[in-house]
Order: sequence, then structure tokens, then C-alpha cells
Amino acid sequence: MTFVHVEAPAFEHHRDPLGIGERAPRLSWTVTTDIPGWQQEAYEIELSDGTATGRVESAESVLVPWPGGELSSRERRGARVRVHGRDGSAGDWSPWSWVEAGLLDPADWQAGTAAPPLELLGVPDGPALLLRRDFTVRGPIRQARLYVTAHGIHETEINGRVVGDDVLAPGWTTYGHRLRYRTHDVTELLAEGANAIGATLSDGWFRGRIGFAGGKTAVYGDRTALIAQLEITYADGTTDVVVTDDSWRCASGPVTAASLYDGENHDARLLPSGWSGPGFDDASWLPADALPHDPALLVAPLGPPVRRVETLAPAEVLTGPDGETILDFGQNIAGRLRIRVQGPAGHTVTFRHAEVLENGALALRPLRHAAALDEYTLRGDDAPEEWEPRFTVHGFRYAQVDNWPGELDPADVQAVVCHTDMRPTGDFRCSEPLLNRLHDNVRWSMRGNYVDLPTDCPQRDERLGWTGDIQVFAPAAAFLYDCAGPLSSWLADLSADQAEHGTVPHYVPWVELVFGTSPTAAWGDAAVLVPWTLYRRFGDLGLLRQQYPSMKAWVDQIAGLAGDDHLWDEGFQFGDWLDPAAPPDDPGKARTDHALVATAYHAWTAGILAETAALLGHSADAEHYAALAGSVREAFRREFVTPSGRLACDTQTAYALALTCDLLDGPAQRERAGRRLVELVAGDDHRIGTGFVGTPLVCDALCSVGAYDTAYALLLQRNCPSWLYPVTMGATTIWERWDSLLPDGSVNPGEMTSFNHYALGAVADWLHRTVAGLAPAAPGYRRLRIAPRPGGDLTHASADLETPYGPASVSWSRDGGTLTVTASVPPGTVAEIDLPGAAPQEVSSGTHTFTTRM
Ligand code: BGC
Repeated sequence: MTFVHVEAPAFEHHRDPLGIGERAPRLSWTVTTDIPGWQQEAYEIELSDGTATGRVESAESVLVPWPGGELSSRERRGARVRVHGRDGSAGDWSPWSWVEAGLLDPADWQAGTAAPPLELLGVPDGPALLLRRDFTVRGPIRQARLYVTAHGIHETEINGRVVGDDVLAPGWTTYGHRLRYRTHDVTELLAEGANAIGATLSDGWFRGRIGFAGGKTAVYGDRTALIAQLEITYADGTTDVVVTDDSWRCASGPVTAASLYDGENHDARLLPSGWSGPGFDDASWLPADALPHDPALLVAPLGPPVRRVETLAPAEVLTGPDGETILDFGQNIAGRLRIRVQGPAGHTVTFRHAEVLENGALALRPLRHAAALDEYTLRGDDAPEEWEPRFTVHGFRYAQVDNWPGELDPADVQAVVCHTDMRPTGDFRCSEPLLNRLHDNVRWSMRGNYVDLPTDCPQRDERLGWTGDIQVFAPAAAFLYDCAGPLSSWLADLSADQAEHGTVPHYVPWVELVFGTSPTAAWGDAAVLVPWTLYRRFGDLGLLRQQYPSMKAWVDQIAGLAGDDHLWDEGFQFGDWLDPAAPPDDPGKARTDHALVATAYHAWTAGILAETAALLGHSADAEHYAALAGSVREAFRREFVTPSGRLACDTQTAYALALTCDLLDGPAQRERAGRRLVELVAGDDHRIGTGFVGTPLVCDALCSVGAYDTAYALLLQRNCPSWLYPVTMGATTIWERWDSLLPDGSVNPGEMTSFNHYALGAVADWLHRTVAGLAPAAPGYRRLRIAPRPGGDLTHASADLETPYGPASVSWSRDGGTLTVTASVPPGTVAEIDLPGAAPQEVSSGTHTFTTRM
């Protein structure tokens, strides 16, 4: 018996569509069927308000336009889908999915702010403050929603129970332009009669210290505040609204200091018992100030919040050189500890965090000015006390525990992994354990660097949304996780910052620290390349439409800077950052000329903009930018390429750029350039010679000229610098530098040395596309390219991916000269199969096995 089953549809990129901001959310669905080659011919959508599309002749199933009237604020509507196959098959209706709109108009916000008064406010990163008020529930309720955000970081409670499971809410956006609120269903937290709502509020990114070189405080304002609107709908249809205003009362609480970088101090003796429940006596508390805020800045989230995603137990208890107790969690993470402790009242335990050990002790120097130190002072209960800091996050694998009362049972300390709760979508495995660990490390670095926004690192006094880092890593990220929503949100911040500062800043949200911002290649190019990557991987043309003005403004700005000769050869550049030959204290001193890198990127992104313009129907723009890209390519060749195909800069990165950005003139030049790249890599003994710019491209460049063996030799190299060297040194995340840990086990002397930076892990994308052989051949993987290129001494490899059309996979194994490949192609898609030693062919959905000789 055959079946055609449609999953409940998804709304936009939401995992949890409660309180969304889109009025006409696009719908996506996947089909499961045992009919080989199944293709959708038509769909029908029904909405719970009676809207019915009837049969729509269309093969589309990803981000299909909303078929009904726009959602209004707070409105809840269901959607279900039915599909018809080209073969005449018809599925049953999918289950219903439900979506609920948030507050879509600024006028929906009655909430002002409740701001702790100046008397209570400490220095930045000082105490987290408590705010509360009582309210009455008049009768039986049908539902209750809390719309909440803060200037600062909040944890909100109702009747003594924490609302939701968000961590570090509301996260970090360009607060001056966009401040995310969240919608929580709090129906179950309310009771008829007396109730109370309270929040603990820390400075967070809003008022706390941000950034390197001493950082800055109070970047967004000097006063923290809670913005909350609790809407109660009674069974009889009447409503009550409880909002933040100056009727709230404030006091200090147990959190005596909270800083994202420095950690949190919690004195449990200072917790006023029952403070967020009804009937608490807050007469001695001070009234909150109602400060103005602009509700037009409040936006619903585009993706999931930060949550506690996993908990790790200590793998080992170590003793440091001075007898310190050090817990090794076996994995470098972003998160914090959760403890269970019993002891005398007033006793303080301290926890220091570090990514690596040096001579057996915590290596704290790489943290620079981030103390990463938590302190807990016991209440002295008869029963064990449980605690986890709530307003800080650390990048660590090791935790040093000082002054634990009595004998430490390692089971009483756990590491809680915190990051944006994206859906994991892709994986890679192969026969080489070191490569598997490399891939695991890439995933862990993605997790460690997605605490609400894509950052460079999670541990030191930085943790900024560096544009270059995510630009190179986005293709790998988009395979590992469904990051379409979170990155769309970050791109909205990028556009906002770009409009305000006149260029794409070095990091987003932009905070001016020691230096200002200026356009830089590979970093600012994120404005074009990140939306393009998301379009290719998730099929979201709407995102390109939304980002188009930003993409265009970037390319226009660079075209202006490059001027008539089309060479971008002026101004500050990061260049091929962290070229392994650059001295530890001068990471920008790469061997590849900055102007070569910048001009190559200019050609690349002008070309992508031309394609984008064509897709969006801006034909004049499409022509203009195609011509621009052509002129920049010509300029590049004039300036940097010899007629035979050698480059003015004889580096791996220069050749990698020229080959992958299509900057050479015809096969003869490509062949010569390819040969030279192979010579360079071999001349370096197959050790990596690239920094942030060349690293994501070098293997593709080698493969584009058929030099698979060289690409594999580079990939499988274990000597420093190489991708596998850190793995042989015990790395559990991707390091910032090729040699963050030197071969003798000491920490690189450079002051900028992180052990959790995803940029150099961008190679994972090549593992997926070329080693395992699963790549998108059309946006959203509607067409797959299955083209594994087995090499090195690998005997098998596989990739699995939850594509927008459903699960796809490729796995191959090699036995002697026989290659066996099994590919699973989702319904509604087709795949081009291109195997070594066989003519390319096209297959439709289903599972296929191929055997060739190689
Ligand atoms: C960051 C990088 C970033 C770079 C800019 C560093 O401090 O950690 O990853 O891209 O500065 O060059």
C-alpha cells in the first residue's frame, strides 16, 4: 500500500510559532511517501478561519505565500495542507499547525517601563535588581499571555515560578533599532484571586560592559528597565492587562553582581522568600520609575531563544599544581555551572572557568579582561541548595572549584550548555576518527558561538558579532543547524547598523570601542554573502528581497571606493587574517596583498548582487552589476594576473581566491594557476598556508582544477599548521589560531588566542559537499548535487541533512577499486549524480544505490 503523508506545515522559520511578527507567514511542508520519484503537482491549504485555496497547481512547498487575510495582533489561526502528486496520488490532510501573532502594532503596547530607581542601581555590572507587583485575577481564565522584554537581561516569574525557559532574554540586537520581545503562554501560572509578577533584571548587554580594550559600559543607556504586558482573557471574554509602570516596586536581591564577562555573585541569604508570589510585603521596597521607551522598536523574534540545551557531567576531577580542584567537563562549551551544595550559612564557594590548562593550571590569560568568576554564598539550609548563575555565560571546559564545603562530589557540579536553540539538521561521518572529531569540533564551535548571535568567541572580553567570521562560516552553519531564522534576525541588525553608520561595520551590533569602523573586505561582504548563502540553503527568496537594499548599498559603496580603476586598494583591511605566517602579535600581517583580497571580494559580491537583482526582477540592476563584476574581474587580471596565469602574490590564498571567485581568463590560465597552487601546497609540505579568507576556499580551489589528492593531503595533514593538528592536541572546538596551543602544550603568546572560534572550521562545508558529496544544486536543495570525491585513505563517508524538502543523505564506501554510493533524495526534488568514473545522470526522489570503479 502506498502512502503520501504531509507533515504539519511550518510558519516562516519558526520552531515555536507563538507570538510571531509576520502578518502573512509563509508556509512550508514536507512530504513523506513510498512512491519513488514523487513530485507535487498541486497543493491545497486550509486555514482555521475557513479560508480554502482549493487546488493550486504548483510544485512549491517551501515558503509558500500565506493564502488568507493578514493575521491581526494576538490572532491565532491554524493551517493544514493537502498535496496532489503528478502521478495522480493524493495525500490526506496534514495535521493542523497553529500560529499566534504577537503584538504587531506599536499601539498594542500599553506597557511603559518599570525601571529600578537610581538609589538601587549600582555601577554597571553591579547587582541584579528585583521588581514586582501584585495583581488580582477576577475569575476563571481562558488564557493569559505575557509579552516581555527588557533593557538589560531579565528573568521573569509569576507566583514564584519562572516564565518560560529562555536564557539571557531578550538577547542582543541593535537595541537602538530593534528590541525583541517574547510571547509566553502563562495561562497555567495564574490562579484566581491574588497573584504576583516579578522579575530579576541585570545590566546585560544594555548597560554592562561590552568589548575588548577595556570595553564600554552603558552603551545603550544608563537605566535598565523591564517592559512587560500581561494580558488575561477571562472565560467570559473580558480582559485585564497588567503592565510595567511606576506601580512596580524594586529592591536588591541575592545577585550582588552580574556581568556577562566577569561572572555572577549570588548571596542566597539575600533572597527575600516568596518575593514573586502574592501577599509578599514590599512596603520597604522602592517604587520603579516609569521611563519612556519607544514601542515601535519592539519586534517579535525570527528564531528560537537561547536555552539550556544540554547538561554535561564532569569527565574527570583533576588536582592543579597548587592543590586546586579542577573539574574537566571533557568538552569546551558556552554555558555555566549548576551546583548542589550544602554547608554553613555565609560560606562562599567560587568557580573559575577556562578553556585549557597550562602546566596543569587554568590558563586565564586568553580570557583577557573577562574574570569568568562565579561566587555562591550559601543560605545554610538543612537540605542541599541548588544554584546556576542566570545572568552570565562562560566559554570553558575546565572549572576550578575553590572553598567547597566538605568533600566535593563531582556529581554535584554540572556544566549547562547554553545557546540559541536551533534545530540540528546535518551531520557528517567518515572512516577517519580524527576527521570525525574535527567535524564534532566544528559543531561545538557553532554551538559555542551562537549565544543569541553569531560571535567570534564565547570566552574573552569580546564575544562580538564579527561579520567576517560568520561570512566564511555561514555555509557550514546552514548545514549543521536550521539557522535561517536567527541569521535573518542578525541580518536585520546588520542592515540597521549599516544604515546608521554608513557602512557594514566590523561587527554587528556595532559598538564603537578603540577604533571606528570602515568598509573592510570579507567582513563587510557578509552583507551580500550571508543572505546569499541562506537563499541557496533554505530557498528563502523573501530574505534576499529584504536584504537587497543592504546588499546593494554595500556593493555601491565599494564600487565608489574602488573608483574608475575598479581596484579596491585603499583603506584599512583585515585581509587574510591569521595567515599562519603572521606573527602572533600581528595577525593582520598576511602574505597575501590586502588589495588582491579586497578586489577579489568586490568582484565576487558584485556578481552575486547581479544574480540577486535578476532573481528579484530588477533587470536594470542585474545588467549594471554584471557589468561591474566584469570590470572588476578585468581590473583584477590587469593588476594581479600574468598572461599565463600566475599571480602577483604567490600565496595559497591568492590562488584560492582567483580560482573560486572565477577571476581568471579561460582554461589555460586556470590550469596554470591550479598547477601553481598545487606546487605551493606541496612546497609547504601540505600544511595549511591560509588565514580566514583563504581557508574556506582552498580545498574547493584545488578540486576545481582536479587536484583532489592535494586537497586530501591538506585536509589529512596532522603537523602544525593544519586542520587536524588541534585535534591531535586534544581540541574539542575549533581554535582561533592554527596554533592556539603550541606543539609543546603552551598557549600561543598572542594576546588574542581563543580556543573556540568557528571561522577556520568553515572547511566542514567542503566535507559535506565534496568528501561526503551532498550539495545544493538549486536553492533550498530542490535539486541536489550528489558528487562525492573519495580520497586520501578514507574508506567511507556519509552526510545526512534535513533539507527544506525532507531528509536527504549520501553515503559511500570503497572496497578495493569499487565505490558504492547510496543516496536518498527527498520527495519533490531531483538529484544530479556525478560519480568518479561514471557518466553523470539525474535521478528522482527515493533511495538509490550506485556502484562504480575508481
Ligand atoms: C576576532 C575575530 C575577528 C577579528 C577581526 C578578532 O578580535 O576575534 O575573529 O574577525 O578580530 O579581524
